[in-house]
Amino acid sequence: MRKTIVAGNWKMNKLPSEAAALIADIRKATNDGDCGVEVVVCVPFTAIPAAAEALEGSSIGLGAQNMHWKASGAYTGEISADMLKDLGVQYVILGHSERRQYFAETDETVNLKLKAALAAGLTPIVCVGETLEERETGKMQDVIVRQVTEDLAGCQEDFEKIVIAYEPVWAIGTGKTATSTQAQEVHALIRATLAKMNPAQAEKVRIQYGGSMKPENAGDLMAKPDIDGGLIGGAALVAASFAAIVEAGK
Ligand code: PGA
Repeated sequence: MRKTIVAGNWKMNKLPSEAAALIADIRKATNDGDCGVEVVVCVPFTAIPAAAEALEGSSIGLGAQNMHWKASGAYTGEISADMLKDLGVQYVILGHSERRQYFAETDETVNLKLKAALAAGLTPIVCVGETLEERETGKMQDVIVRQVTEDLAGCQEDFEKIVIAYEPVWAIGTGKTATSTQAQEVHALIRATLAKMNPAQAEKVRIQYGGSMKPENAGDLMAKPDIDGGLIGGAALVAASFAAIVEAGK
């Protein structure tokens, strides 16, 4: 039985003081995250210390949105896994489509980051998903299989520690959600791809859906057999919406 995991991806939003206030509201609305669902907030780097303090004594996990694969060195502007760990971070989003699209991340760098995150004991949330053009030209399956295979290469023995987020790029921030049937089809494809890599652990991997998930569609999506939670952007910035999605995940 896989535990449902609902994570907020705050993206480039919230000053430290605003993060603390939003977390206080999320704590109230989710019974401190003590609700049978694994609840996580992935905040901007600068809000991590304030968020860690605001989360003290709750069951809500703290996540970052990116990291570098090297432990230290001449990498101006980058943040290592140990730097995140030292601040109390437990989760890290890797390979979000915005990072692939605007910051030239590739399957190869996502794979390097994944290995570094696992080595540091962080729980990685690896994002995969096709663009609208890829879907419309019949390339969705190839893209998903390639991303899963290349992003997770060499990490087969650690599959159960990895969370995958299926985020169709055309659904992110657009208000267009994949139907639960469309999403389930891709989640099943992801699980089948994992099973080819490590049959013993594929069933243990949690696969979140992301892309305009909101209280109105969350229950329907998470009721599907291979949808084990959500990665929530816009709706995670409003405590009541985020809490309603967590509730739908129970
Ligand atoms: P959205 O973002 O919920 O605002 O579509 C999801 C994400 O990008 O993780």
